[in-house]
Amino acid sequence: MPEHFFAELSRRPGYTHVLLITTGSVASIKAPLIVKELLSYSKVLVDVVATKPSLEFYTKDEIVKAGARVWTDEDEWTGEFKIGDPILHIELRRWADIVLVAPCSANTLSKIAHGLCDNLATSLMRALAPTTPTYIFPAMNTLMYEHPLTAEHLRIIRDVVGYNVVGPIGKKLACGDIGIGAMTEWRDIVQIVVDNFQLSKALPENLS
Ligand SMILES: Cc1cc2nc3c(=O)[nH]c(=O)nc-3n(C[C@H](O)[C@H](O)[C@H](O)COP(=O)(O)O)c2cc1C
Repeated sequence: MPEHFFAELSRRPGYTHVLLITTGSVASIKAPLIVKELLSYSKVLVDVVATKPSLEFYTKDEIVKAGARVWTDEDEWTGEFKIGDPILHIELRRWADIVLVAPCSANTLSKIAHGLCDNLATSLMRALAPTTPTYIFPAMNTLMYEHPLTAEHLRIIRDVVGYNVVGPIGKKLACGDIGIGAMTEWRDIVQIVVDNFQLSKALPENLS
C-alpha cells in the first residue's frame, strides 16, 4: 500500500473510479470476481475497502492480483498521524465516482441506517457526497433479512439517505437455508456500473 493516499494524485482523468466495500457476509467471496470483471472494462480503476470480517472470505492477495488495492482499518489508523497528512476515509470518498457495498451485511446495513461510523467503511460512507451514486447489496440469512429491523433500516437507507438498494435475491444460502437473503448475482452488480458509466470492454493488450 502507498504510505499516503491522496485522491487528487490517484485519480486518472477519463477513468471511472469504482469503490467496492465488502462486509462480513459469505458473499464477499465474490469480491475478486467483481474486481476482475470490472477491470476488464476500459478506463476503470477499482479500490476495495474491506471490513475485518469480510477478509475471512477472500484475501487481499486475490484482489491485488486482479489489479486493485485493498484498504482496511489499519490503513486509516496507522498510529503516525500528523497534521497535513491525508485522512483516508475522506480521500477515498473524494476518489470514488461510484460506491458499491457488496455484500452489505445486516450489521453494516444497520450502522449505515443509524449513521454509525466506527470503521473505515462506515466513516467513508458517512462522509460521502449525496451526488456519488451509491448502491447497497444486502446479503444475509433469510431470518436476518425478515427481522423487522431490516425493513426499517432499508427504508431509512432508501428514503432518508437516498442510496439505491438492490436485492437480495432468493436462493439456497451458504448456511443451507433456502429463501431470500442472497446477494444480487455478481455479474448484475458489475452491469450496474457498466450501465451507469457506459463502459466498454478493454481491447486485449496486444491490440490496444
Ligand atoms: C461464516 C460466517 C458467515 C456470515 N455471513 C453473514 C451474512 O451472509 N450476512 C450477514 O449479515 N452477516 C453474516 N455473518 C455475521 C457478520 O460477519 C457479523 O455480523 C459481522 O459483525 C459483520 O461485520 P461487518 O458488517 O463490519 O463486516 C457471518 C458470520 C460468519 C462467521
